[in-house]
Amino acid sequence: MDSLYIVGSSGHAKVVIDAIEMQRKYIIAGLLDDYRVVGQETMGYQVLGKIDLLTGLSTHGIINVFVAVGCNYIRQQIVDSIIECCVNVNFVTVVHPNAVVSSSAKIMSGTLILAGAIVGPDSTIGEHCIINHAALVDHDCVLAAFTSLAPKATLAGNVTVATRSAVGMAACVIEKVVIGSDVVIGAGATVLISIRSNSVAVGTPARVIKERQFDDPYLS
Ligand SMILES: CC(C)(COP(=O)(O)OP(=O)(O)OC[C@H]1O[C@@H](n2cnc3c(N)ncnc32)[C@H](O)[C@@H]1OP(=O)(O)O)[C@@H](O)C(=O)NCCC(=O)NCCS
Repeated sequence: MDSLYIVGSSGHAKVVIDAIEMQRKYIIAGLLDDYRVVGQETMGYQVLGKIDLLTGLSTHGIINVFVAVGCNYIRQQIVDSIIECCVNVNFVTVVHPNAVVSSSAKIMSGTLILAGAIVGPDSTIGEHCIINHAALVDHDCVLAAFTSLAPKATLAGNVTVATRSAVGMAACVIEKVVIGSDVVIGAGATVLISIRSNSVAVGTPARVIKERQFDDPYLS
């Protein structure tokens, strides 16, 4: 098995570690985290140093990396910084063996699909997305890079989710809806109409309650 470095060591990293162990494709070499002390552990794996450690490691050949950071905007920033500083990086895709992914679905690199999730036929999940536990993506959906579905979020057929948007826990989005970029859909929302970029929508039926910027705190 090839070795793999995980960026991040928080609660989200725990579900990533769990899925990687279950996937049995990579051995976890260690964790990189700018905010933890070297030697501290998450689920038995040590923090090896800050993220810039990858720069030196990648000069010896291709390294496998997974960015396990829940905030969509910060995850994008970290991925961009790694691409800028490292010559040989392979961002791996992690799919829990208890997820069900259609053979015609496209899953891009760096994406995480957790236990109980379903991705239907001809759907596309972009780079570095999070499809959380028991989330459901039906047929012909398109999720742009750095988007996330919280546990039990449900997208009907032909839904589009633009860059960095987050769909909250158990929210339902009906068919053909387009969710703009940097949107947050609140937990339990029922989305019946398309939602404009840079907004927060909650409730049943979902209504926009405020505007937000791409770098506002995650899930607010
Ligand atoms: C939508 C959300 C991001 C708003 O958070 P926030 O910016 O801190 O907003 P506030 O808590 O200040 O709430 C603002 C108003 O919206 C209402 N509201 C917030 N979330 C709501 C929701 N999910 N459904 C219905 N109403 C909601 C609040 O009651 C409040 O109403 P009021 O002004 O009448 O008092 C948050 O409540 C939410 O649902 N997050 C998703 C959590 C989730 O799915 N986590 C999974 C992580 S993997």
